[in-house]
Amino acid sequence: MERVIIRGIGSYIPECVLSNADLEGMVDTNSEWIVTRTGIESRRVCLDTEMASDLGYEAARKALENANISVCDVDLIIVATVTPDLRFPATACIIQEKLGGTDVPCFDVNAVCSGFIYALDVARNFLLNNSKMKNVLVIGTEKMSSIVDWEDRSTCVLFGDGAGAIVLSRDTDENSDAGILDVLIGADGSLGRLLYCPICDSGGPAGVKSTEKDAYFIKMEGREVFKEAIKRMCSVAEDVLQRNDLTVDDISLVIPHQANMRIISAIADRMKIPEKKMFVNLQRTGNTSAASIPIALDEALQSGNIQSEDLILTVAFGGGMTWGAALIRWK
Ligand code: ACO
Repeated sequence: MERVIIRGIGSYIPECVLSNADLEGMVDTNSEWIVTRTGIESRRVCLDTEMASDLGYEAARKALENANISVCDVDLIIVATVTPDLRFPATACIIQEKLGGTDVPCFDVNAVCSGFIYALDVARNFLLNNSKMKNVLVIGTEKMSSIVDWEDRSTCVLFGDGAGAIVLSRDTDENSDAGILDVLIGADGSLGRLLYCPICDSGGPAGVKSTEKDAYFIKMEGREVFKEAIKRMCSVAEDVLQRNDLTVDDISLVIPHQANMRIISAIADRMKIPEKKMFVNLQRTGNTSAASIPIALDEALQSGNIQSEDLILTVAFGGGMTWGAALIRWK
């Protein structure tokens, strides 16, 4: 049977650290409130001159190096983002140019915080259904700082910037069962009003009149999103396990979307997953939307939390509302 594996992975977070103490000087908040309600201690933010494509390029460069291939070996580039550099061309095209690639198809996917899992599913299906394709570059990259209202304490403490990338490849090793075992994605458009952004453009809102600025920023019903996030992430994770005849005991590590420590703890509690199996890095990154899962996956690998043959469950939830889960046997 054809299988698709993660052949290479890389991530990049910008250098500039924005701590909770820094936020105390910007809005009426305090570090204790932020840590208690979210678990976040600091996040990384871009310079004005850095765009989502710059972060994505750095992550992609590392993933290609890790996979030991060049951009010439890539047959398709998919970018998950809600903070594209421009309305068009797609950030995938911009990153292709930065990498020095040409000719192959490039497009963006918008499923907010679930974007990486959506892009993973699309990429996997391309590889399984098109024998001419060998390697697909999947990138999650976000400059959330460009769509956060830095005067709104209820949202500005949550988000951060960053990027993660993987190279997905068809595997020919007949003695292995490693790879992306399954991906399940879903959405409920009727819940879109709970979390949305009227206009998004990581180049803006510089130069926009203050009365117009509001249109660029994230709007969120925090408590409703919180409840939906737990409900949907538990149900999509349970569904993907069930349809593969697996239980949480078979899982070595869960890589949940890094939105809020309380959401992650509630999922662990509800699904009876020991907390030590839940990988968490949001203390240092905040919520990086579509970049959150590939950054966490890369950091879990770098820190020795993933061994060959481990079964990984990734699960995400985001605006849309969208959700998704993937099962990965690591190679
Ligand atoms: N500092 C201090 N006080 C604050 C802050 C802040 N940064 N933000 C809100 N407050 C105040 C509120 O004004 C409110 O005060 P009041 O009682 O006087 O009215 C009080 O704290 C409680 O506010 P709530 O919104 O009820 O706080 P809650 O416990 O729900 O926590 C939070 C808010 C952290 C946003 C939570 O609802 C949450 O995490 N929701 C999920 C949001 C999320 O993760 N979104 C990301 C996108 S989707 C995804 O990635 C899963």
